[in-house]
Amino acid sequence: MGDLLADIADVGRDAKRGGYSRHAFAPAELELRQWFTAEAAKRGLDVQADRNGNLWAWWGKPGRNAVVTGSHLDSVPGGGAFDGPLGVVSALQAVDVLRAKGFVPTRPFAIVVFAEEEGGRFGVACLGSRLMTGAISAQAAASLTDPDGVTFGEAAHKAGFDPLRMGRDDRALSMIGDFVELHVEQGRGLDVPVGVASSILAHGRWRFSFTGEGNHAGATLIEDRRDPMLPASRMVLAARKAATGGARATVGRLIPNPGGTNVIASSVDVWLDARAEEDARTREVVAEITAAATRAAEDEGCSLKVTEESYGDTVHFDAGLRDSLAEVLGGVPALPTGAGHDAGILAAHARTAMLFVRNPTGVSHAPEEFASSDDCAAGVVALATTLEHLAT
Ligand code: GLV
Ligand code: MN
Ligand code: MN
Repeated sequence: MGDLLADIADVGRDAKRGGYSRHAFAPAELELRQWFTAEAAKRGLDVQADRNGNLWAWWGKPGRNAVVTGSHLDSVPGGGAFDGPLGVVSALQAVDVLRAKGFVPTRPFAIVVFAEEEGGRFGVACLGSRLMTGAISAQAAASLTDPDGVTFGEAAHKAGFDPLRMGRDDRALSMIGDFVELHVEQGRGLDVPVGVASSILAHGRWRFSFTGEGNHAGATLIEDRRDPMLPASRMVLAARKAATGGARATVGRLIPNPGGTNVIASSVDVWLDARAEEDARTREVVAEITAAATRAAEDEGCSLKVTEESYGDTVHFDAGLRDSLAEVLGGVPALPTGAGHDAGILAAHARTAMLFVRNPTGVSHAPEEFASSDDCAAGVVALATTLEHLAT
């Protein structure tokens, strides 16, 4: 079967941050797409790209009501080796397991690789599945920019996709009967090798843009300043304070403009990632942070603009599918996750489930993300069992 994760271990390593930076339509991710296409071809699967930059590898004839599995190949900046690729390589290896035992699916069967799941380049997570389901419009997606000012439309075009043809794809959606995504677990929620997902937190991303007055760090008296870094830092503290009772609020990205050591910034952009069990609680957390940020901006004579860049309500995976898979897999546990997934986007359109593979430390979105080879192998067996159960 070979160790497919080892085959791609050198692709997209980030020497500066550690781990991997494999961003949508950037060279490392394009190399992984080629690698996936070749691996699928080796197995006799027919690979086609859809209009939204997602890859589909069909085992047999494409058709409606298919059993579909897969995940993504892009990463966060400086991410781990497992988030995304584990679901893709496990899907290929599950096909190997099923083939070896002579299984032939009675339903159409595909492996899918979704584009820009992390939003690590263009800022909106699950962009490929959001486009496919119409959760984001083609126009809105095309104008998203990466840190170098390249738009998603430009990058997609360069990679061979027509941004004008992107958007809700009812044909592709009608192909998905059941979707199962295998993923590394991300929160120390599993003490056995494999589990099934029950739910995903409501979550979203907001940009807080503070504007003040750029000026000289030495020549400007403290009382004369309108420094947007002050309300930005108070907002970071407010985020921690607001995230109580299981809610999460994170600032992992803050960009001062122009960003000089001896320069009072003229503006600061701060990105907030907020999550909670329910929509209402998530909104409450964001409202509390926004109120604190507004007060802090006023105190410093700055202005503030808050933009919701993406949002997804709580997802409860199909209970019947979840329970039948837990049983077929020998009574494995069901657990919620705080991470977002393409499976969460698809859950509103198809019967959807997720399998989790144990992560002993729970660390994820970081180079230290880990799952043991034995647990990954157990994940492949569980996925093969699942797919066989669904495609028989
Ligand atoms: C993606 O992994 C996310 O949860 O943001
Ligand atoms: Mn992922
Ligand atoms: Mn992730």
